Amino acid sequence: MNIIGISGSPTKGGNNEKMIEMALAVAEDRGFEVDRIFLSERVVAPCTACGDCTDKKVCTIDDDMAELYPLLERADGIIVATPVYFGCMTAQLKALFDRTLMLRRQGFLLSGKVGGAIAVGGSRNGGQEKTVQAIHDWMHIHGMIVVGDNSHFGGIVQVPAESDEVGMQTVTNTISKICDVLEMIKR
Ligand SMILES: Cc1cc2nc3c(=O)[nH]c(=O)nc-3n(C[C@H](O)[C@H](O)[C@H](O)COP(=O)(O)O)c2cc1C
Repeated sequence: MNIIGISGSPTKGGNNEKMIEMALAVAEDRGFEVDRIFLSERVVAPCTACGDCTDKKVCTIDDDMAELYPLLERADGIIVATPVYFGCMTAQLKALFDRTLMLRRQGFLLSGKVGGAIAVGGSRNGGQEKTVQAIHDWMHIHGMIVVGDNSHFGGIVQVPAESDEVGMQTVTNTISKICDVLEMIKR
């Protein structure tokens, strides 16, 4: 089974990429194959609402999203991390989310995948919970199976992430829950 980690941060090697790497290491230890999408190294433009994906499984915008659609489609689980920007996800992640409209219109191709969320903020109470909820909203709109950290809502982290012991535990618990549910439903 395959789990993909998505970082919505523009910062190469930043806190969000570290949290995704940490989560994917847990999944690999449990025998899952992993993939990663780091938006610091991808160009994904916003949806222009052209409507072309209503009838065809194609997005007319010519950018890296063409390579990302197959990665998303083949995943069994998706863990998404984002920096909190003004109380919500980054524009980079929102652009990717909006571009997945094609997958929804072409037969709910993300439905049934297991998803979890991580939000990393500069402040302790900088909007992490709201941001996790916004990621969950995207997952629900795709018909995904949404999990938290087996206690609350998901990964809630303050920078520097590697010093936030409690936050890192919520990340580990979230990926563990994704793995648990995948093992339950795919066995
Ligand atoms: C434009 C901008 C807006 C931000 N807004 C918030 C915010 O609302 N709440 C918060 O806790 N941190 C905020 N931050 C801090 C980032 O969340 C933090 O630096 C980020 O999670 C670091 O992750 P990275 O190293 O992966 O980029 C903001 C940072 C930027 C650049």
